[in-house]
Amino acid sequence: MAENTEHVETSRDQDINPWSVEGGRDEAGNAVSIDYEALAKKWNTSLIDQALLDRFERVTGHKPHRWLRRGLFFSHRDFDRILTKKEKGEPFFLYTGRGPSSGSLHLGHTIPLTFTKWLQDVFDVPLVFMLTDDEKALFKDSLTFEETMHFAMENAKDIIALGFDLKKTFIYSDLKYISNHFLMNAWEFSKLVTFNQVRGAFGFNESTNVGRIFFPTVQCVAAFATSYPEIWTDEPQTERKKSIAEIQCLIPMGIDQDPYFRLLRDNAHKMKYPSPKPALIHSKFLTALQGAGGKMSSSEPNSAIFMTDTPKQIKTKINKYAFSGGQVSVEDHRRLGGNPDVDVSYIYLTYFEDDDAKLDEIYRSYKSGELLTGELKSMAIKKLQDYVAEFQERRKEVSDEVLEKYMTPRRLEWGGTAQPKIK
Ligand code: TYM
Repeated sequence: MAENTEHVETSRDQDINPWSVEGGRDEAGNAVSIDYEALAKKWNTSLIDQALLDRFERVTGHKPHRWLRRGLFFSHRDFDRILTKKEKGEPFFLYTGRGPSSGSLHLGHTIPLTFTKWLQDVFDVPLVFMLTDDEKALFKDSLTFEETMHFAMENAKDIIALGFDLKKTFIYSDLKYISNHFLMNAWEFSKLVTFNQVRGAFGFNESTNVGRIFFPTVQCVAAFATSYPEIWTDEPQTERKKSIAEIQCLIPMGIDQDPYFRLLRDNAHKMKYPSPKPALIHSKFLTALQGAGGKMSSSEPNSAIFMTDTPKQIKTKINKYAFSGGQVSVEDHRRLGGNPDVDVSYIYLTYFEDDDAKLDEIYRSYKSGELLTGELKSMAIKKLQDYVAEFQERRKEVSDEVLEKYMTPRRLEWGGTAQPKIK
């Protein structure tokens, strides 16, 4: 009984929504780690279990990504249905996005995006990538539409540098692209959703500007295949088609974005040409440098490692800010051991060290006190410096011409499923 009360106390205060992420506090007011199981329970998502991972491997012939093996992608809705589609060779597509609130991605953003690229490789299906420059100008009073559209172009270059396959990828800025069938979907969907529903899902009130109230419909209908007639066929489509609407979508994302897609899943079947409920796969947040309870975030520059950071900046940030689970003195550390579970350098290694056995050994030796905090930090610094430097090399190659190619609406080419039959 006592255990139960404590659990509720920890999870009760956490506040996770698309615009801010805060873990709970314990009775003494200290930040505690985000309780993801409590969140999955509250939002009624399914946890990813070993049986699902085994099925994934059987169906795709690929070992699950280390982020799946290590529970960093931990929750889903209907991912099993996507596996059934893959098994039967029926068409489906990937959709994800980024809100361009600054000119550079941080390390945390690259997690769901790199994972999406991996899914694109494994499933060999089309991907649409939305840049919500409309959202960021609507939700940040300090940003103009010109600025967010400029950030969208810079972010798109970062996204391309993550390695998405041009033949299978369409990237777009909302402000530039949305028109025609996409816009018709947004208006039709807005007719199905009341202010009460979005108020509940996003915490809006009577003083919220109407742009913000409408915006969720835009992020939602981006999951309808009819929003992008050009990617499916070269034949100009004068009307939306039932046969295109039937193509299901899989959305990889950080779990903060789930409220949008709950709204979508509740209403997708009411459209004139109904679409199947989109499947979702959710990641945990790459923690802030400061540790427990926060996510790495652009609005807190000291919480984040940016993909533009120099090796020296990465070193300084980890040494200065990365929360340590070590003891205060070397003597105490040797005697009592460290706590890798709360140590940010260790947590970062769980994302970026691919070798399971090596990671286990780091965990064991830090806990026993053999490995010191300085040594652990050096390992994390090296991994992150390499990851960011490789990214920066690829980023240099992304010219305006390359950007234009990814952002041109066009028929995509893929081999992982049948082509849709458009009637
Ligand atoms: P944005 O730009 O806030 O975030 C882009 C993606 O990164 C995830 N994310 C993180 N993941 C791990 N650790 C972190 N510290 C971290 N911070 C952010 C977000 O969950 C997201 O998946 N409105 C969206 C853009 C969008 C979108 C989508 C995202 C439009 N359609 C569909 C996902 C799926 C936004 O502002 O994302």
